[in-house]
Amino acid sequence: MIAIYPGSFDPITLGHLDLIQRGSRLFERVIVAVLRNPNKMPLFSVQQRLDQIRLSTQHLPNVEVDSFDGLTVNYAQMRHAQVLLRGLRAVSDFEVELQMAHTNKTLSTQIETVFLATSNEYSFLSSSVVKEIARFGGSIDHLVPPHIALDIYQCYNHNSPMLNPISTEATPPLKSMSAQREA
Ligand code: PNS
Repeated sequence: MIAIYPGSFDPITLGHLDLIQRGSRLFERVIVAVLRNPNKMPLFSVQQRLDQIRLSTQHLPNVEVDSFDGLTVNYAQMRHAQVLLRGLRAVSDFEVELQMAHTNKTLSTQIETVFLATSNEYSFLSSSVVKEIARFGGSIDHLVPPHIALDIYQCYNHNSPMLNPISTEATPPLKSMSAQREA
């Protein structure tokens, strides 16, 4: 069975990659499909995103990376896929995703949407969160693969904050009041 994993992936995160890895164990082939969306102003061009995803999934032989425009179900039919793969992080995702699955079902009864629950450790993670942290100078080294973190730091024109990978504290510890008075 062939599954399409559609999305914007601007940029792809460790949460997306976890889902792709798990999907690749369930399906014969997973096609990660980047939507060419003229209505959005992405951080990365479609070509950059394709390159980033290809580099991040090169260890998974049954994963292919492609782009598409138009309706996802049409693309799925064109690729002879039977499944749309989507991740669910929280109840808020569920509402949007269920509507999308129902809409897609009205467009093609042949295509099923399969949801995988996001792994717990990535339940907060989204491309927008990554961009927001990086924009304000925080570390994203624990949220995306290293080569993508570099691309993002470059976009926001700063280097890796070189922090503890699970900390986003960019400032040194505050001095005590007495030390401040002495200074
Ligand atoms: O990563 P995203 O932005 O959550 O992905 C959303 C995506 C690309 C899967 C969705 O917007 C989509 O399928 N767009 C293509 C147009 C389409 O098929 N619309 C009908 C379903 S609502």
